[in-house]
Amino acid sequence: MFSFSTAFFASTLAAGILASPAAAPSALTKRNTPNSSGTNNGFFYQFWDDGSSGTTTYTNGPAGEYSVNWQNVGDFTAGKGWSQAEPRNISFSGSVNCGGNFYLAVYTWSTQGENYILEDYGTYNPCSGGTSKGSLYSDGSEYQVCLVDRGNNYLQNWSVRQNKRTSGTVTTANHYNYYQSQGMNHNPLSSAVYQIVSTEGYGSSGSADITVSEASPSTSSSASTTSSTSPATTSSSSGTGASQWGQCGGIGWNGPTTCVSPYTCQQINPYYYQCL
Ligand SMILES: *[C@@H]1O[C@H](CO)[C@@H](O)[C@H](O)[C@H]1NC(C)=O
Ligand SMILES: *[C@@H]1O[C@H](CO)[C@@H](O)[C@H](O)[C@H]1NC(C)=O
Ligand SMILES: *[C@@H]1O[C@H](CO)[C@@H](O)[C@H](O)[C@H]1NC(C)=O
Repeated sequence: MFSFSTAFFASTLAAGILASPAAAPSALTKRNTPNSSGTNNGFFYQFWDDGSSGTTTYTNGPAGEYSVNWQNVGDFTAGKGWSQAEPRNISFSGSVNCGGNFYLAVYTWSTQGENYILEDYGTYNPCSGGTSKGSLYSDGSEYQVCLVDRGNNYLQNWSVRQNKRTSGTVTTANHYNYYQSQGMNHNPLSSAVYQIVSTEGYGSSGSADITVSEASPSTSSSASTTSSTSPATTSSSSGTGASQWGQCGGIGWNGPTTCVSPYTCQQINPYYYQCL
């Protein structure tokens, strides 16, 4: 186990931190040099803290587990995952205790921008300050999608889960393919220097304990046809269909292939069919 702790004795948070929902763009560039990163039990981990106030303690646990405690912080990100971003299926479970602002997300970082697939969050919905890019359905919920320009050509792709959760599996390809279909490919995934299940706190205090793993390929017969190349279309599914704007097909898609009335499933590209 490694533990990283930071202590700063600023008496109060700077007013700017309280007013701003996340770090200023200039602070983001500091993520170039995480305060600590490396490999732990086969997982990549990173811990970054803007150092502006408060105390953050990040601790690597067994396998894919980590915990983090924070008090009156400016902004930090921390978590475990992989040093190379890929369209993985990522599982996570645990808990976050925070009455203020936090993000629990599958998070990729590069010098050109960030991507958050946000699974749980506090009081601030980051898409309230972004450009809407519609929504997609994945892993049992609708996600609101938006692009946020943090200035200095620093862009963020966001997927904001409507049904918040602290455990589950994220089929990241559904998000990455959707961003592509919306022309949000300003920032290639290949340029990301890591992909982690991140806990981020900003202007808040709290704690989190999260365990990360890569979901093993599904063993159910319907999910593992190796020869299928044709995308799903609008047919032959029992059960309820996807709602308006929801995904209803595409290469690799394993969710609903019909739409609730009166919407119909339309091809946006081979990877993405949407209920319109
Ligand atoms: C983490 O590193 C950044 C520079 O990358 C620095 O500004 C910040 O103060 C450091 N934080 C801590 C807690 O040491
Ligand atoms: C934004 O989406 C595009 C298209 O999928 C993706 O290539 C890129 O990596 C995303 N941006 C970030 C910062 O992850
Ligand atoms: C991810 O899960 C989906 C089913 O939800 C499956 O079709 C796909 O093959 C999986 N991908 C990987 C890389 O395991």
